[in-house]
Amino acid sequence: MNNTNTSNYISKVLINWYNSNKRELPWRDINDPYRIWISEIILQQTRVNQGISYYLRFIERFPTVSILANSDEDEVLKNWQGLGYYSRARNIHKAANQVISNFGGLMPFNYKDVLTLAGIGDYTAAAICSFAYNQPYAVVDGNVFRVISRLFGIKTPIDTTIGKKQFADLAHELLSKDNPGLHNQAIMEFGALQCVPVSPDCSKCPLQNICFAFSSNMIAELPIKSKKIQINTRFFNYLNIEYLNNTYLKKRTAKDIWQNLYEYVLIESDHLLTETELLTNEKFQSIFKGVLTVEIINFSKPIKHILTHRVIHAQCITIRISNEIKNINNEFEKVDFQNVDKYAVSRLMELFLGMKK
Ligand code: ADE
Ligand code: SF4
Repeated sequence: MNNTNTSNYISKVLINWYNSNKRELPWRDINDPYRIWISEIILQQTRVNQGISYYLRFIERFPTVSILANSDEDEVLKNWQGLGYYSRARNIHKAANQVISNFGGLMPFNYKDVLTLAGIGDYTAAAICSFAYNQPYAVVDGNVFRVISRLFGIKTPIDTTIGKKQFADLAHELLSKDNPGLHNQAIMEFGALQCVPVSPDCSKCPLQNICFAFSSNMIAELPIKSKKIQINTRFFNYLNIEYLNNTYLKKRTAKDIWQNLYEYVLIESDHLLTETELLTNEKFQSIFKGVLTVEIINFSKPIKHILTHRVIHAQCITIRISNEIKNINNEFEKVDFQNVDKYAVSRLMELFLGMKK
């Protein structure tokens, strides 16, 4: 590329295409940086169609940054339930408090200041500053990588430092300096609807005439990634311990998946345990030490739960006990069945809770 005319041309085509093809979405055509921020974080972890209801619910519950800052973290997590990546919800809450303490309760205007907020990186800062304030920062997300690599035939792997820099530079060159907000929305929407990952319909693409991938038949190869993602496999045996009308929940406090969410008593192992293995498991024995009758009522069928970069094999074992577990240091919270819904839980736990009803 390296050519202002080509950039201007592409940007114009993208914006024209956008004006006649864009979806109507609740975070579009608004300039409230708080709402734009929330929508972008939600969209980092869910598809647009699913994101809409989460977004509307979240904004209804936390309509302003100060209302969010003044809410409990647990409440924020509860409203994030099911979206996954709970560290993002914790960061949103933390960032709202930063807005109150460092910026007088107003979302910052400068890109550099926006970047100081928890959980906001280059992408989100560029989205906020361009969509809300029309500042010239190019968004560079997966859609943008794909569109740029195909249009210009860039073969540098997108998951390398060099690749990220190269794509960011190209995205910036391509950015319309007259209308950066609109341009950014246009290229992302174009990647989401037209230049899709698998089998894009190039026959109706307005950029087909200048597209490298199209003319060289490289659509399926571009963009290029260097590494295969490592998948990490774990095995969770959840114990739904029933004592009268109660079960026991525990808050996940470690720096791990689902931090600060609640779950049944967990025994993690290197495979899903059988009944015999469970009964002789050290942790199992220590939990039920001193309990007179421990009756195993049910083993759920195993569930394969897929997260980004992780597969969790899980089962839920229902156990009825005759007297309370010792619960040293109040490690577990005794919760009436009726109140379990009030706790923020992972989607996997939601599935097990649903099986009970
Ligand atoms: N994906 C990420 N941000 C988006 C936005 N603002 N609109 C539609 N899809 C998106
Ligand atoms: Fe994408 Fe095909 Fe258009 Fe090229 S011609 S930009 S590959 S949709």
